[in-house]
Amino acid sequence: MNATTYTARAHTNIALIKYWGKKNEELILPMNSSLSLTLDRFYTETSVTFDERLKEDLFLLDNSKKNSIKVSKFLDIVRQKAAISIKAKVVSQNHVPSTAGLASSASAYAALALAASKAAGLDLNKKELSRLARRGSGSACRSIYGGLVEWQEGNDDQTSFAYPIKIPTDFEVTMVALVISTDYKKISSRAGMKRVVETSPYYSAWIQNTAEDLNNIKQAILERDFETFGEISEENAMKMHALNMSAHPHFSYFEPDTIKAMQIVEKLRSQGISCYYTLDAGPNLKVICLKKDVQVITDFLSDSFGQEKVFVAGPGPAAHLI
Ligand code: DP6
Repeated sequence: MNATTYTARAHTNIALIKYWGKKNEELILPMNSSLSLTLDRFYTETSVTFDERLKEDLFLLDNSKKNSIKVSKFLDIVRQKAAISIKAKVVSQNHVPSTAGLASSASAYAALALAASKAAGLDLNKKELSRLARRGSGSACRSIYGGLVEWQEGNDDQTSFAYPIKIPTDFEVTMVALVISTDYKKISSRAGMKRVVETSPYYSAWIQNTAEDLNNIKQAILERDFETFGEISEENAMKMHALNMSAHPHFSYFEPDTIKAMQIVEKLRSQGISCYYTLDAGPNLKVICLKKDVQVITDFLSDSFGQEKVFVAGPGPAAHLI
């Protein structure tokens, strides 16, 4: 086999209807379907070369050598599909402003799935790529596509994958990311969601309610109803964070500044600006708004937190080879 290098770029995505819990940890099958927006501003580029001369997998991230256990485990899935046993060199670069704290496993595994499958001689279609990316990190299955994306939970490896949802042309959804802390997560999303599934007394209500949120948000997208779209996103995120507070032991990703920023968004909203927030497994706030309101929102957040903490992103493209 020729040691050809393939390089892929995949963008991060932010969930508006959250994935928070697995029904199968090995296959990464989620407890509920989710919906996200792929962002143009933040992405990962990854090159993969399978090379017969390598004795073990090699993983470089942002120019420094990293432990390759997770990457190797993922490459094993690719090797099994391609019926090869050759080790690989993986070189990855996160294109996220260094202060942003928005690097994600979603863009990482989506880029790795595309580059590694190509380099191993596989020619996967998008559905197969989404299923493969999911094995690295659940949210990565959504980063195979650009724009708004739904991840259908499915019941097995074959049926759990993402697909794109058409964004109406005059629905100019944009995201303003506010970085509150770049510290490592107190509790990883993997561990956090596991604890919630195992211990939150409200988990069954979440499953039921999130299915309704997903249907309603898709209807809002069809109707170009941005207010309902934003409201459902914000409420779904808060329900996810309420689960964390109801777990045993309980935990929260909020920092004091997270609450402060939420109040700023709520105040702007009471003044007539359509803006809504969402948060993932960390204290950073993402504000969902329309393109026309970006300036006023970034001005307000910059005044309180500093301009260097505020990043604007629009809908981004699908994962692609470069
Ligand atoms: C809060 O996809 O990082 O961002 O599948 O264990 O790798 P693993 O988890 P991950 O979890 C993402 C959780 C979330 C919500 C979401 O992106 O849907």
